[in-house]
Amino acid sequence: MSHFTGHHILSVNQFEREAIEKIFTVAHSMEPYARRQKRTSVLTGAILGNLFFEPSTRTRVSFGTAFNLLGGEVRETTGMSNSALAKGESLYDTARVLSGYSDIIAMRHPQAGSVKEFAEGSRVPVINGGDGANEHPTQALLDLYTIQRELEYNGKGIDGLHIAMIGDLRYGRTVHSLSKLLCLYKNIHFTLISPAELAMPDNVIAAIENAGHRLTVTDHIDGMVDADICYQTRIQEERFPSQDEANKYRGRFRLNQTIYTRHFQSKTVIMHPLPRDSRTEANELDNDLNSNPNLAIFRQTDNGVLVRMALFAITLGVEHLVSKYEHDVVWYTNKS
Ligand code: CP
Repeated sequence: MSHFTGHHILSVNQFEREAIEKIFTVAHSMEPYARRQKRTSVLTGAILGNLFFEPSTRTRVSFGTAFNLLGGEVRETTGMSNSALAKGESLYDTARVLSGYSDIIAMRHPQAGSVKEFAEGSRVPVINGGDGANEHPTQALLDLYTIQRELEYNGKGIDGLHIAMIGDLRYGRTVHSLSKLLCLYKNIHFTLISPAELAMPDNVIAAIENAGHRLTVTDHIDGMVDADICYQTRIQEERFPSQDEANKYRGRFRLNQTIYTRHFQSKTVIMHPLPRDSRTEANELDNDLNSNPNLAIFRQTDNGVLVRMALFAITLGVEHLVSKYEHDVVWYTNKS
C-alpha cells in the first residue's frame, strides 16, 4: 500500500520525488490495458463520481476512461447549472451526499481552493481535476511523465533540463503545478515568456528561486536554442475580468513551424496542455506543426490516461492486483 491509499490528491505539494517515481512506474505498467492488449477487472463494482463544474474535454473523459479501463463504473455531473450547487447547496453538503454514492471522486470547479473545501466534506478520496487558476495536479503529473518519456528518446533525464513556458502564465494553472513539480528535480532552467501582466505568480517564482533553479523572465521568444521543452499555453479567457482584456493578449505568442525553426533546436519537444485555441485571432499552436515529430501534445493526452489509471489504482490500494484480474481482449483493436 502507498501512503496515498485512501487519501485525497489536491495539490502537487503533496508529492516527493520518490512518490512521483512510483506513480510513473505504475503508469507505465498500465500501457497494455490502455492499448487494449489486455483488460483488467480489478475495480469491478467500484464507482467513480466524476464531477465537473467547469468545461473540460480531456480531463473529464480521461478520468472516466481510466476508471473504466480498470473495470470500474463512472457516474457524472457536468456544469454548475445542472447541479444543486445552482440552488445554493454548499460544497460540503454536495460532498457528503456524493461520497455516499462513490468510492472515489474526481472534481473540477472554477474557484481556487474549492476542491479542497469539497474534500473536507467527502468520505472518499477526492482528486483535483483543476480548481480555478490554482492547480491542476494530474495534468502536471502527466506533463512530467511526458517530459520524462520524450527526453528518454533524446538520451536525457529531467534533471538539468531547460523548459520554456510561454503565454498566459498568470492564469494557466497547469504551468503553476508543473513548475512546482519540477522544483523537486535538479538544475532546471526555467525560461518564462509572457507579457508582464500575465507573468507567473510570485509564489511559483519563489518556489523556483528557493529550490535554487536558474530563472529567466522575458517577454519575447529569443535565444531558445538550448531549450529541451517548449510548453505553450492558452490565454485563459474565462479567468480574465472581461473579454476585451483577454483579447489584448490573444495571438501575442504564436508558435508555428517557421517560428519554431528560427528559435528552437530541432529536438525541442513541443507541449501544450490543450485545448489549443485554433481560432485565427489566437492560433497559438499552428496546425503546420502537426507533422513535426517533436509535437508531443497528443502523446500528452494518451499519457493522461496512464497517469490517471495509476492514481486510481494507488489511491484505492490495488496497484499490485491489476494483472491478477487480467483478461484477454476479444474485440478488434488497432491501438497496440
Ligand atoms: N488540459 C485540460 O485540462 O483539458 P480540458 O480542459 O479539456 O480538461
